[in-house]
Amino acid sequence: MATFPAGFLWGTATAAHQVEGGNTASDLWLMEMMKPSLFADPSGDACDHYHRYSEDIALLAGLGFNTYRFSIEWARIEPEEGFFSQAALDHYRRMIAECHARRITPMVTFHHFTAPLWFTRGGGWEDEKSVDRFARFCERAGTALGDLIAYACTINEANIPIMTTMIRQASGGGDEMRLKALAEAARLCGGRPERFAPYLSGDGHATVPNLLAAHRKSYDILKAKVSGPVGITLSLNDFQAEPGGEALRDMADQLINGQFLEAAKGDDYVGVQTYTRVRFGEAGLLPLPDGAEATQMGYEFYPEALEATVRQAARVSGCPVIVTENGIGTEDDARRIVYTERALWSLINCVRDGVDVQGYIHWSLLDNFEWLEGYGPKFGLVEVDRTTQARKPKPSAYWLGEIAKQNAMG
Ligand code: BGC
Repeated sequence: MATFPAGFLWGTATAAHQVEGGNTASDLWLMEMMKPSLFADPSGDACDHYHRYSEDIALLAGLGFNTYRFSIEWARIEPEEGFFSQAALDHYRRMIAECHARRITPMVTFHHFTAPLWFTRGGGWEDEKSVDRFARFCERAGTALGDLIAYACTINEANIPIMTTMIRQASGGGDEMRLKALAEAARLCGGRPERFAPYLSGDGHATVPNLLAAHRKSYDILKAKVSGPVGITLSLNDFQAEPGGEALRDMADQLINGQFLEAAKGDDYVGVQTYTRVRFGEAGLLPLPDGAEATQMGYEFYPEALEATVRQAARVSGCPVIVTENGIGTEDDARRIVYTERALWSLINCVRDGVDVQGYIHWSLLDNFEWLEGYGPKFGLVEVDRTTQARKPKPSAYWLGEIAKQNAMG
């Protein structure tokens, strides 16, 4: 029997755009709806979580979880620059209050990939004005909601723009569709093609200084308003090298993981989000090993990646670690259980070695909108009927909820 530390956060995660539905003032809504689109499906109604949050919070509480990580949507709160919707803020206040009413710890993310269309039209995170634009949003939302927020996360996966850019560059070419779509989106919203920069499809290199500065500034703002810890979450792959691939691995590791973990020094926690490992050879990224199982995302089924990234995050940042995302896209829920169980055992190894791990938050509560892949990949512990919106917990939901209740596994 392995026991997790007292007070361990056991949660599930979502992000506003992926579950709420109708996020019409956001940058991605435009990019999903235009024809042709890079997106397999438009997010549309998503899981209608905007109206069904109460049922969903009750569901996760009933399963045995004590934490819910979700994001508030900047595009709803500030749909036009400088106009802040009191109604949207009130909505999120009711949602956070509902968590407390169900004895669920709310962990609130202030930026999870989407942004208001006006922000992305104006250069997004490539423009240094992004720092003050985001700070102003955090000031307003933090003032309205901070007293109820138990944990705040400034930016979800601040290192993912540079990661996606580097992957694009490493795969060499094939980029015309993306550039065409960005130019067309800019035209549709009256912007300039070279300025239109969505989080995941802009120039990641240009975003790094702004994202790091925005994190520092919003950390200070939220510290003064939120009742609990404030931090950042990072997308951390376990970077490994085959002989000859060490130099490339170390370079990628520093640019994608290292510099962001160093920037988290002094924060109250660092959020680790891990799905797989990535291997480097002498000539670049290596394909999946022969015979390896691939998930719906094409990632290698490799749950033990979590142990390496949690150790790295703790060592480099010096912060307590919360696993703020971990999970698998699969139609086979039995594989989800195997994946998660192995990931949790690897987390136990860290705990036993004295790494300060404070929680495990599974991605995701619901089958939801998986960005470019649309509704294909299934990350949810709970199935969602795309016509009726009916929720149906999968066996993995009951299994993980039981571990959460016991705070132990055996
Ligand atoms: C993101 C989620 C996403 C998940 C699975 C993470 O990178 O934060 O929004 O759905 O991975 O791909």
